[in-house]
Amino acid sequence: MSTKVEFYRHDLGAPELEAIAGVLKGPILTTGDTVAEFEQKFAAYLGRKHALGVTSCTGAMHMALLALGIGSGDEVITTPMTFIATAAAILEAGARPVFVDVEPDTGNIDAAKVEAAVTKRTKAILPVHLYGLLCDMRALRAIADKHGLAIIEDAAHCVEGIRDGVRPGGLAEVACFSFYATKNLSCGEGGAMVTDDSELYEKLKMLRLHGMTKNANDRHREGYQHWDMKILGWKYNMDNIQAAILLPQLERLDRKLVQRERLANRYTEQLGKLNWLQLPRLPEGTTHARHLFPVWLDAPLRDRMIKELHGRGIGTVVNYRAIHLTSFLAQELGCKPGDFPVAESIGDRTISLPYYPTMPDAHVDLVCDALKSIAAEFRG
Ligand SMILES: Cc1ncc(COP(=O)(O)O)c(C=O)c1O
Repeated sequence: MSTKVEFYRHDLGAPELEAIAGVLKGPILTTGDTVAEFEQKFAAYLGRKHALGVTSCTGAMHMALLALGIGSGDEVITTPMTFIATAAAILEAGARPVFVDVEPDTGNIDAAKVEAAVTKRTKAILPVHLYGLLCDMRALRAIADKHGLAIIEDAAHCVEGIRDGVRPGGLAEVACFSFYATKNLSCGEGGAMVTDDSELYEKLKMLRLHGMTKNANDRHREGYQHWDMKILGWKYNMDNIQAAILLPQLERLDRKLVQRERLANRYTEQLGKLNWLQLPRLPEGTTHARHLFPVWLDAPLRDRMIKELHGRGIGTVVNYRAIHLTSFLAQELGCKPGDFPVAESIGDRTISLPYYPTMPDAHVDLVCDALKSIAAEFRG
């Protein structure tokens, strides 16, 4: 095959260049009015009171935990079927991640298993909306309320999602987002957090920038004024250039979701009925954010498939192998194979196929044909 099918391609161009030029014409490159405009529009998109632009979802989760007073001696319930950043943020805050296995048909944390993991030390639940499918937030909120826990959402995959009428952040203390290079909204590296809690928002704003009472934009607007360091903070503030790249994308986010939906339907039509391949379930009444398009294969076929697809010029990624078995986390948390069998099974079988809004239909067809012919060869 001579055509190369990339795993992902961004569609940033003229509108983003123009927006960046607008920032460069002004005096403030760091956190300023462009970030404030993005925050206001991002909060409005999600129907939340407050949004904060930050440098990553990892930093957002770290700060959310700190702002909620979660640290040494505390436990945070989360999923092993995620990127390592989810567990790393909990450890960075000084707390301990406690994994709960996932649903076999979605890969999301299994709400029915969460309560059994609650102890006296549990302070929060940190669910991950895997691939763009919101977790069962109503079930998780009920458990959190019963045990006095906070919920911090890892919504790195899910800006656009809605489930049972709930959007990210709708039933949580804080939701955290990633604008990493391949995300549905991207500025290369970046993130955001949303909350309806005004007190928490003020604390997060200070934690985001060294615990300072003024930032460079304030000093520019108001003239120099002495500032104070109120708390120990971090350096997680989004800058105006990042916000400029995000603003035009926010305008077309829902249109891009329609394109993603169309491609997902095309994949599903061709792959949905194969008996050697499983597609994650889409629960009723759900708007999926369609960040990734994973397929789950028989385990022995997965690694061979990745290699063969690569040989045919087709890019794929694995999201994810269960993270409790990475060397560091296994040692740090005392985890071993078999601890979370559902996550491990998905981790052994999953492949994320090429998927981005401007992907040509013909490439979807090429990928599906390649999957089928490689599987036929493998299965004999
Ligand atoms: C599920 C999940 N959580 C957290 C992160 C971390 O996001 P960031 O790179 O913005 O820190 C990612 C990034 O890929 C992710 O996929």
